Amino acid sequence: MLKEGISFLNHGSFGGVPRVVFEEQERWRRRIEAEPIELLGRRQAELIEVAKRPVGTWLGMRTEDFGLVTNASEGINAVLYSLRFAPGDELLTTTHVYNAVRMAMRHTAARHDATYREVDIPTPVTSRADIAGPIIEALNERTKLVVIDHITSPTGLIFPVEEIAAACAGRGVEVLIDGAHAPGMIPLDVPATGATYYAGNLHKWVCAPKGCAFLWVASRRRADVHPCVVSHNYGKSLAEEFGWQGTRDASAWLTIPAALRFMADVGWERIRQHNHALAVWAHAMLCERFGVWPLSPIDGSLVGATATVRLPLPLADMTDEEAKALQQSLYTDHRIEVPLVAWQGVQHLRVSCQVYNRADDYHRLSEVISAVAARRH
Ligand SMILES: Cc1ncc(COP(=O)(O)O)c(C=O)c1O
Repeated sequence: MLKEGISFLNHGSFGGVPRVVFEEQERWRRRIEAEPIELLGRRQAELIEVAKRPVGTWLGMRTEDFGLVTNASEGINAVLYSLRFAPGDELLTTTHVYNAVRMAMRHTAARHDATYREVDIPTPVTSRADIAGPIIEALNERTKLVVIDHITSPTGLIFPVEEIAAACAGRGVEVLIDGAHAPGMIPLDVPATGATYYAGNLHKWVCAPKGCAFLWVASRRRADVHPCVVSHNYGKSLAEEFGWQGTRDASAWLTIPAALRFMADVGWERIRQHNHALAVWAHAMLCERFGVWPLSPIDGSLVGATATVRLPLPLADMTDEEAKALQQSLYTDHRIEVPLVAWQGVQHLRVSCQVYNRADDYHRLSEVISAVAARRH
């Protein structure tokens, strides 16, 4: 459904939705409007359970261990609001954290007189140990919660979450994994990550309608986590509490099985291989064309379907305002949708690779960026 004639390289933020998925959501909206009490009142719990089942089967989760939420942010906030911290407790994450999650963690720390700390994971990273090592070394007796990204937003790196979660478990530290990008981008078994809490989006790499995400909680902590909107079902069960958070449009959630069917019909393995191969190629091509060092190994061993590349000079030195103007100009003047991100004070771009992208899209991007950089020299 994306507009023709645009090189759309930002599936990672908000990407295309298949037409059949959009149409299925429209059908659900019509059904709901035709029988609002029957569908949103008497049958909603049963319909949500049906929508959750294929997600659970696909990601190794029992339906009683997860709830649907509108987005990963909501899932993460539900955990942060549910936990209690004592003054001096530490909430730990890394410098690669998604900014909205940084803000939610800071807010939580401030409410409890706890501390918020970011461990630096310097780039370039060359191995999984370069990522896991600094996080594990940073744990101390005050660390109560570690929030790690499964796939980072600014840098597009796959974090070795299993190793990090195992080290945290050994020290009695709980782990919340921000899996905003993981479902659909990489093979995933949520409980096998070893996380205590896992928030994942379905509206990114599963191509479900906007407003589809989940929060999974390890059974031992299930009774302690409540949705951000506490409603009639408070204290019943995680699934029931998340299943009713006040009147809302449930059509996106009810469309999840259609999105999963569509993607499975195309073939998950095919999709992932295509997207990863394109990302590895685009990453290497852009680094070479811009004459910059990669942030992670050029063999693609630490990336999935996104890659972040440093911009050539003088664009790397742009202010955030200038970068914002360039991003708008790339779209308006050159019909390229790509995010520019400041990483450690240097401007980068992040490309996403989804099945509708072609090598030409990235060649065009490299030509336009090189021409803009040459004009500004
Ligand atoms: C790593 C990461 N976490 C969280 C989010 C937030 O996702 P949402 O806007 O669906 O809540 C994003 C969005 O891009 C993200 O990249």
